[in-house]
Formats: sequence, C-alpha cells, structure tokens
Amino acid sequence: MDIFVVEGGKRLEGSITVGGAKNAAVAIIPAAILSGDICRIENLPTISDVSVISQILVQLGAKVTQISNSVIEIDSRNLTGFQVSQELAKNMRASYYLLGALLGRFNRARVPMPGGCYFGVRPIDQHLKGFEALGADVGLRDGVVSLNAPNGLKANHIFMDVVSVGATINVMLASVKAEGLTIIENVAKEPHIVDLANFLNSMGADVRGAGTDVIKIRGVKELHGTTYSIIPDQIEAGTYMLAAAATGGDVTVNNIIPKHMECISKKLVEMGVSVYEYDDSIRIIRDGGLKACSVITMPHPGFPTDMQPQMAAVMALASGTSSITEGVWENRFQYIAELVKFGAKADVHGRVATFSGVEQLNGASVKATDLRGGAAMVIAALAAQGESSIREIFHIERGYEQLIDKLVGVGASITRKTVPDPPDKDEK
Ligand code: UD1
Repeated sequence: MDIFVVEGGKRLEGSITVGGAKNAAVAIIPAAILSGDICRIENLPTISDVSVISQILVQLGAKVTQISNSVIEIDSRNLTGFQVSQELAKNMRASYYLLGALLGRFNRARVPMPGGCYFGVRPIDQHLKGFEALGADVGLRDGVVSLNAPNGLKANHIFMDVVSVGATINVMLASVKAEGLTIIENVAKEPHIVDLANFLNSMGADVRGAGTDVIKIRGVKELHGTTYSIIPDQIEAGTYMLAAAATGGDVTVNNIIPKHMECISKKLVEMGVSVYEYDDSIRIIRDGGLKACSVITMPHPGFPTDMQPQMAAVMALASGTSSITEGVWENRFQYIAELVKFGAKADVHGRVATFSGVEQLNGASVKATDLRGGAAMVIAALAAQGESSIREIFHIERGYEQLIDKLVGVGASITRKTVPDPPDKDEK
C-alpha cells in the first residue's frame, strides 16, 4: 500500500496554484454527452475521480482523448450505452450524474447506486422526485436505478424538499432537452452549479437563475459541441489556505476566485490570520497565535461542509475552545478519532465537535477516513512536530492533484512511499 510520510513543523512559504474544481468537473464531463457532439473541457484537475468518470463515458461508447494534463476532448457522437457498470459506479458518488445525463440524452438510464465518501445515509430521493416530475418511471432493483421516459421528458415545476447539490445538478441535466419550461425551486447555489449552467448554455441550452434559489430551464431540441474551461477548485484552495495557517506560514494561493473563498477567509481573519485578496489569488500570513472560533456548515454561501475537517485541524491548535456544527451530513466526524492521535483535544456530541486548542501537535500514524478527512490529516501532519504517516491515501488522491509537488513547492517535507500491506484482520 502507498502512504504519505510527512516530516512536520515546517513553515509553509511560497505560492501554490490550484487546479480546476473537482465537483464541477465530475458534473460537466457527464453533461457533455447531452450534446451528442464533440466537447473540449479545459482546466480539469488531474485526479482519480476525473479518470473514473471519463472511463464511464468510454464504457458507454464515447471517445475521450487526453489533449494535455488538464484538457480532454469528449466525442459522444457514437455513444449508445445507457447502463453504467457497477465496477466503475461504486468508486465515486458523482457516477449518479449519468442518471440525469443519460435520461436527458436517451430518455432512459440504468445506473448502480453510487459510492463515494461515507457520511451516514446519503439518500437520492430528491433526484428521483425530480426525474419523476419530468415524466420518467423510476425503478430500483438489485441496487440499480432504472429510469424510463418512453414518451419523452416534459417540463414541470419542481420544489426541492432539501437543498441538494446532486439533485439540483441531476434535474438540470435531465431537463435541458425536456419539452417546455422547467422551474426548479429551493436549489443549491454552489459555484459549480453556476459553472454547470454556464457549460450547458455554451452547448446551446437555455438555463437561467443558477446561483439563486430558483433555476429556470427552457428545453431545447438540440445541443452542440463546445470548448469550456472549468472554474478553480474552492475546496483545494481552502485546504492550502488552512495548511498555511496551521503551519504559521506565508502562502499565496493562485488561480482562484476570491469571492468563492470569502467564508473561509473571514474565519481565518477571526482566528488572527492575515488574509490579502488580489484579483485571482489570496495571500495567507500567520505570524502570531491562532484564536478559537466556531463554524456551522451550511449550503453555499455558508461555510462548506467539505472544508470542516481541514478547519478542525487548525482549530486543534487555536487557543481556547472552538466548535464545529455539521449542518449538512449526519455523520462527518469519523476523522476526529485520527486527529486526536496527533494530540488534538476534541469531543463529539451528535453533530457538534468541540476542540480545546493545544500548543503543539505531535507526529502520528493515522489513516485517511475519507477525502476531506484525509486532507485534515495532511494539515495536522504538516503542523505537527516530528514524523507522521498517513494510510489509505487513495481517498485523498480522489480530489487533490499533485498534492506532494504542490506542498513540497512551499517547503513541506512530504513523500509517498510504498510499504507492505498490513496483515488481513481475518487471517489467522
Ligand atoms: C455534494 C458534494 C459533496 C458535498 C455536498 C454538500 C459532489 C460530487 N459532492 O454531494 O462533496 O459534501 O455536495 O456540499 O459535488 N439529501 C437528501 N435527499 C437527496 C439528496 C440529498 O435528503 O435526494 C440530503 C443529504 O443527505 C445531505 C444534504 O441533502 O444531508 C446535502 O446533500 P447533497 O447536497 O445532495 O450532497 P451531494 O450532492 O451528494
């Protein structure tokens, strides 16, 4: 197995350039098949989730050509498949975007229930409610969702019961070619929802209101190919901002949209960190102590749940008592059992975690419990005195491109090593 080995306690200094947004990429790649044409997607992150979603398209019959590290061309003219394999779907949550994309393209889809990080129950009832409202029959057998709309999809007025990123995206995908005006209320407003809408419009769709609570989509008969560049990754950028804060560093994070970072920047300022905003970069400097703060995770524009584990690693070092209230997922604190191995003092009660800041974390042997929990381990290890090792790094590599190179570039000591697998627990 591969692990990260980190020699911590080094102040991060210099600049890091972030890549394209993972959560936009994994929606835009499936969306490209709606065109039945050639789409060139630029500024893609080089992460395993992008490879897996691209492989799903290939398996369905698309031709996907890697033009450069961050650019692919998707030719879906000969794509005819409408069934996604269990093997590929189980690797990532976003495989369920093939439901909306295939339904929109062929009026039918068969997709296994998705994999991805485990944060407790992750229902897809709102996605299915949206598909049904557009005229699809929904079936679930042996863990595979089947959608069929033999008479085509018809626009409808849909009110989401919960604000869901995935359901908003899936219903957008299914309705761009549905007949009439679809109105979706109580939708998610994350930056990647807006990015997807811009991508769909660049293919000839008529999507309005993305970024507000209501999205209106007038169905069009045909879409066409396009060239589109994905927005920078808000969560990757935020992770490096917090790594700079945790190590008492001075780091400029480039290729970002500062507006997307506001909720994180404001918390860092509250914690005593200096934050300087420029047109497309942010500089983080910490030369004093960290002050405690509290965070409640919420849908955009609130503090993103995908940043809370990384924030926990910083709170562990902040003087006083900090707290995180998880407002999105029922169970997103599994990583805390690993964080305390560094000497963090933390308590979890239901959806609230509290941290009594310590002066120093110490190197530890830990595992990544999930993607962002893994990023928290990296931050804690960078800040800790001594050597740390992090197992199960495949979680981290689902979402962070060239993590080692980027961190080494700002002075971190982090390497990837192959070590023997631990003995199988069931082996006698
Ligand atoms: C997306 C992100 C994930 C992030 C999450 C919240 C991707 C690929 N993943 O996940 O990283 O943590 O947004 O910002 O973009 N819910 C329902 N019924 C549904 C759908 C969701 O009750 O049909 C609930 C969920 O249980 C959760 C909340 O709504 O409590 C938000 O989930 P949602 O926004 O759908 O998350 P994902 O799209 O899966």
